[in-house]
Amino acid sequence: MKEHLEQICMTVNGVPRKFVIGDGVGCVSPSETLLDTIRDRLGLTAAKRSCEHGACGCCTVIVDGDAVASCMVLTADCDGSSVTTLEGLCDPVTGELSPLQKAFADNSAFQCGFCTPGIIMSTKALLDQNPNPTEKELTEALSGNYCRCISHYQVIRTVMGFINEMKRKEA
Ligand code: FES
Ligand code: FES
Repeated sequence: MKEHLEQICMTVNGVPRKFVIGDGVGCVSPSETLLDTIRDRLGLTAAKRSCEHGACGCCTVIVDGDAVASCMVLTADCDGSSVTTLEGLCDPVTGELSPLQKAFADNSAFQCGFCTPGIIMSTKALLDQNPNPTEKELTEALSGNYCRCISHYQVIRTVMGFINEMKRKEA
C-alpha cells in the first residue's frame, strides 16, 4: 500500500469510485481486499468468493488490463486503477450481454456456473491483449481458473470457436 494514502480513487466498470481509508464506519480498512469491496460495498456479485487464497480463480476481475484474483489484491493498492468486473462487460445502456458472454451462454460452456465469471474475465483479459491466441495460450491463460464441474473442455471449444467467428467476421 502507498504510504500516507488517505483515500482510494479508482474506476469500476467505468464509474469513478472514491473510498476513505480507515477503521471507521464506511471506511475501507487497509487490509480490505478488492473482492470485499466490489461485492460487499458495490454490490457487484459476479466475482465469486471461494477459496480466498488465490487458488481457484472464481474471483477474477481485470485490473489495468490484467486478470487478477481479487481476493489477493488489497483495495488500497488499487488507487488510480481501472477495475472491470463481469457486470462491466454488458452494454451499460441495454444490459445486453457482450459477444463473449453470449458465446458462453449459447454453447453452455458451464455447468453450475460458479466459476464462469472468473473464466470469462480471464478470457477477456487474454483476448484484449492477444486477440488471436493459440489453444495452448488460451489453456495457459485459464490455468488459474478451477472448475469443479469440469467444464474446461467446453470452455476451450467455445472460446476457440468464438475467436474463429470473430476472425471470419473481420475477413
Ligand atoms: S476466491 Fe479468489 S482465487 Fe479463489
Ligand atoms: S461450472 Fe461449476 S464450478 Fe465451473
